[in-house]
Amino acid sequence: MKRLTIPLLAASLALAAPAFAKGSAAQGKKIAEVNCAECHSVDRTGASKNTKSPPFRTLGQRYPLQELEESLGEGIMVGHEGPEMPLFEFEPQEIEDLMAYLKTIQVKKGK
Ligand code: HEC
Repeated sequence: MKRLTIPLLAASLALAAPAFAKGSAAQGKKIAEVNCAECHSVDRTGASKNTKSPPFRTLGQRYPLQELEESLGEGIMVGHEGPEMPLFEFEPQEIEDLMAYLKTIQVKKGK
């Protein structure tokens, strides 16, 4: 069964791919500003308004951003089990945009 399932999945992904464009960092920034900025710092500088929320530029220090992308796709927010955090559901294109933006602002540890 496995031998059959994997090529089928690959084929459906290939078909789905042209449906949405590669992520736009500019769009992603807007999504972050609208949905996340009330708690998280979403830019290269500045503290989070909600001090418990990690600034977005440090997310890559905690785990690979790829993991966040997968969680967003499943509609589950990593680290957001608490009642303080609303649950977000994003369209594939919005996730691409958000990830494209997050990649542009990441800082390494110690900066
Ligand atoms: C109402 C406030 C609030 C909003 C809005 C919010 N967050 Fe959060 N977020 C938090 C808090 C508080 C934490 C820390 C939770 C904890 O550590 O238990 C957190 C943690 C996170 C983490 C996990 C960090 C980790 O290392 O585990 C990610 C990723 C994240 N938020 C992404 C987002 C994204 C993306 C958005 C916008 C779509 C968003 N958040 C909007 C409050 C918020």
